[in-house]
Amino acid sequence: MDKVPVITIDGPSGSGKGTLGRALARELGWHFLDSGALYRLVALAALDRGIPLDDAPALARLARELDVRFDVDSDAVWLDGTPVGDRLRTEEVGNAASRVAALPAVRAALLDRQRAFRQPPGLVADGRDMGTVVFPDAAPKFFVTASVAERARRRVAQLREKGMDADPEAVAAEIAERDRRDRERPVAPLRPAEGAVRIDTTGKRIDESLAEMRAHLAGSAPGA
Ligand code: DC
Repeated sequence: MDKVPVITIDGPSGSGKGTLGRALARELGWHFLDSGALYRLVALAALDRGIPLDDAPALARLARELDVRFDVDSDAVWLDGTPVGDRLRTEEVGNAASRVAALPAVRAALLDRQRAFRQPPGLVADGRDMGTVVFPDAAPKFFVTASVAERARRRVAQLREKGMDADPEAVAAEIAERDRRDRERPVAPLRPAEGAVRIDTTGKRIDESLAEMRAHLAGSAPGA
């Protein structure tokens, strides 16, 4: 039986779950799984290789065979030996990822890959279905949210930092559309796991939300 402890952090993009999860993993000295990056990598490779985003068998094969490497410290990602850089985080790749993520064959192909991240002393897993599907025995499970307006503001600020301009209304519309697709898909839809602790980061600083999470960890003794 697998006893390595897992804390799951699910929620929509821009909710702050990635930042919170990384900070928590660092504090605990645990591994970190950015499962969204796996879906993004499949999407990126599909776009580059001209594989249609609805060709489920070809995409599932890609998901199984991709040579992926993560460096937790620098947050760098390699695909087939080449660093992928900022492209992984673009809207183009995010939207394509949301489409490939709706395909059951792709999700199934990524299951073992995700579970392989469960290594001692523990894992913090960030995604949409970490607590519901991939690590149902995790404890505690967090569900992190923020209003669409706040998430759009954060995304625009992020893009501007990288020198890209963005229309906040268009970004908000895209976020709402991606949420809808992630929530309404029949397989592993975005929803809180049973018993999940909800953290709303709207109007809060990272350290305030982290303190909320720490308070829950103290109460539930992860890894016990
Ligand atoms: O968290 P993110 O924005 O990097 O995720 C990219 C897409 O991948 C997102 O639209 C939904 C999908 N995804 C998923 O379906 N399941 C996960 N566990 C993580 C991400």
